Amino acid sequence: MSDSLQPTYDELLARVNELSQSFKEFLTEKKIPLPTFEADSVTRYDGLTAEMFVKRQHLLDSLADLHYLVQGPSESIFNYAHNCMPDVAALDILNQFKFWSAVPLAGTATYADIAKQVNLPEEAVRRVLDHAKTLRIFADAEAGNPDAGVRHSSRSAALAQSPGLQSLVSTIVSDAGPPMTVVPQALAKFSRGKTSLPSGLDQTAFNLFHNGKYANSWDYIENDGEGEEKGWRSRNFTTFMTYLKDIFQLEAIVEGCYDWDAAGDISVVDLGGSAGHDAFVLAKKHPNLTITVQDLPKVQSVFEASVPEELKSRVSFISHDFFKPQPVQADLYLIKMILHDWPDAECISILQALRPSLKPGARIVLIEYVGKHDPVVEEGPQDGAWDSKEGSDVTKTKEPPLPRSIQQMGTSTDLRMLALFSTKERVPSAWKAVISAADERFEIAKFETNPFSFFVIIEVVWRG
Ligand SMILES: C[S@@+](CC[C@H](N)C(=O)[O-])C[C@H]1O[C@@H](n2cnc3c(N)ncnc32)[C@H](O)[C@@H]1O
Repeated sequence: MSDSLQPTYDELLARVNELSQSFKEFLTEKKIPLPTFEADSVTRYDGLTAEMFVKRQHLLDSLADLHYLVQGPSESIFNYAHNCMPDVAALDILNQFKFWSAVPLAGTATYADIAKQVNLPEEAVRRVLDHAKTLRIFADAEAGNPDAGVRHSSRSAALAQSPGLQSLVSTIVSDAGPPMTVVPQALAKFSRGKTSLPSGLDQTAFNLFHNGKYANSWDYIENDGEGEEKGWRSRNFTTFMTYLKDIFQLEAIVEGCYDWDAAGDISVVDLGGSAGHDAFVLAKKHPNLTITVQDLPKVQSVFEASVPEELKSRVSFISHDFFKPQPVQADLYLIKMILHDWPDAECISILQALRPSLKPGARIVLIEYVGKHDPVVEEGPQDGAWDSKEGSDVTKTKEPPLPRSIQQMGTSTDLRMLALFSTKERVPSAWKAVISAADERFEIAKFETNPFSFFVIIEVVWRG
């Protein structure tokens, strides 16, 4: 099997055949059911090993390549340009107007029924669903009779059954999507002719799109909406974060990032801890921990509604802006998936704002998203397609080992970060520079990452 960077049609056919067979054999052996397009299908593969996950992603890369070659280069671009915005608009409409619950999971609905439920003209409902059905989101109630109404497909049923998946669509498409459409204009306005990108939050696509109305994306999420609706995006975001915890199995990362049992009776601050999903898991497993969750004010009501009765004496919430001096003296500060949202200057301010409450030996445990990895460089003369010359030494930068479909998790987040915060997904080594720049008394005691993980874990000790 060729590992060529530019595989031919025949190589792809063989590769798809081989990988899809091996994927199916794995599923059969592990008794993992195959999804179908029917509404009662399983919605995900539970039980993939890490190795099989990566193999499956290689299969997806080959299928994507075949999809491009079958269309041909020009048509593949034509089709993509033609469809991508309507695809996104249809998904956003179905999600925002709650089409998922307007059709029964085990039945059918007429267009008139749906129009009534979602409070839109029947014509709009039909037109959106006509496009969605081409994406296998919903299906005709009767094959060949588009007037008979619609039923769920497995893809729409997956959304109907998962508030977490709905919140993901809402956050990524509805909150972050519109600013992404003006990234070209933002680049033209703030970066054309310059040698580096701006680092100010006032020079983002987000800022351009909202015309300066909100300081940043968090301000928008916190304050969009009127009356009781205000803060709905923030409440939705807490569901999104809980969903991410579940699908990426982040509980294991939080559990493994520190020896919680050996720490004894300690106080922990979960900075930007959302509505407490990580704190609840930690506190349940470790009765020695007392945890203060800190986040923006609109998150508090979700925390209060979800904190388990038995944890109330050990897990509490205070609203705290992490750019302001830290009010709680704790033994350990957990900072998970916070700093990657911010440019270097803001990351440094967030870390420095902890200092007033840090006692000598206090720990900061950072769990940060890594969208890209440092290139692997082998010293010495090498042959190969990725050779580059540095001075007189020949070095070989290896091809990144990750399938493109995994790299996209990082590259997409990276562009989203550019649009919203004028920041970028850092490679693991860049985190060391940010921490050192915040204060030389932050000593890095542990630094863990690997190319197949989306996360870096950094334990910092305050030597003040
Ligand atoms: C990407 S989420 C991470 C949440 C949680 N730590 C986790 O890993 O699931 C970022 C969190 O930072 C919070 N946040 C944003 N700006 C903040 C600020 N200035 N002060 C405190 N929290 C803030 C958001 O409300 C959100 O809950």
